[in-house]
Amino acid sequence: MSSTDSIGNHIKAYQDRVETALDHWLPGPKMEPGHLHEAMRYAVLGNGKRIRPILVYASGKAFGVPCEELDGPAVAIEMIHAYSLIHDDLPAMDDDDLRRGKPTCHKVFGEATAILAGDALQALAFHVLSHDPGIRVAPDQRIRMIDILAVASGSKGMAGGQAIDLAAVGRQLNLQQLENMHLHKTGALIRSCVELGALSLQDVEQQRLVQVSEYARCIGLAFQIRDDILDIEGNTEVIGKPQGSDIARNKPTYPLLLGLEGARQAALELHGRALASIADFDENADVLRWLADYIVNREK
Ligand code: IPE
Ligand code: IPE
Ligand code: MG
Ligand code: MG
Ligand code: MG
Repeated sequence: MSSTDSIGNHIKAYQDRVETALDHWLPGPKMEPGHLHEAMRYAVLGNGKRIRPILVYASGKAFGVPCEELDGPAVAIEMIHAYSLIHDDLPAMDDDDLRRGKPTCHKVFGEATAILAGDALQALAFHVLSHDPGIRVAPDQRIRMIDILAVASGSKGMAGGQAIDLAAVGRQLNLQQLENMHLHKTGALIRSCVELGALSLQDVEQQRLVQVSEYARCIGLAFQIRDDILDIEGNTEVIGKPQGSDIARNKPTYPLLLGLEGARQAALELHGRALASIADFDENADVLRWLADYIVNREK
């Protein structure tokens, strides 16, 4: 079997196991209040690429952590991500009607329930990270993991980045401001995936943690640059969300500032830096290497 086949098998296995774990932790659709629980399940289950959970598993693998110990962090981060997408699509934010190839949560369940589904998913994420019995590290390290996810999600991470994004509508940002926005709104959560994977090893070496964290900073930024490119040249059917949403809403993006070719070059440069950061790692980091390639070349 070629190494690409074997990585493809890993990816599929990670997607399947996080789907099962998400289903396990989400309240059943019949549990009261049913409308809220249905909305949460609708937004989370099926169709996501699961890049963030895959990053948790891939980072854990680079540190020799078994998958059973990574399900909790993988689920928690995907729940935060799904919540961020529900809110990102609301009329008060990007006002989009299509997500993961389906009508957005607020289109199906109404705005109030969509807001609450996001709120409840965020809270559930921290419940999972606090309680998942698969997480084997000592309590103080678990608290450190909870704190990393809290900071990455909050005003100094994703939510802060979303605020910068909304404030920037219709304005010209310079490259440094744009990078700062992307590092917050998308990069922070992606970085937390890799850090939580590494911290699932009790005695992780500080130097190694710094190396994967730098890898994650680079691919997190590259991920949003690719998202901006796909907003222009992607196909709605394939990306599962409306192509052209950024232009329609006057969003500052990498292609707008650097042109499509310039944006592609910026992503490639980050790809190179990401790989250099983990050059010391052995073949157990090959899924991380594959993910860096995937992130800059993806079509959805
Ligand atoms: C979309 O994230 C939002 C961004 C941060 C760019 P993904 O492209 O990972 O979306 P899903 O989870 O696969 O739907
Ligand atoms: C979203 O960025 C980042 C989030 C925190 C959800 P975008 O607004 O570009 O994401 P898409 O393109 O709608 O998925
Ligand atoms: Mg947005
Ligand atoms: Mg959006
Ligand atoms: Mg986008």
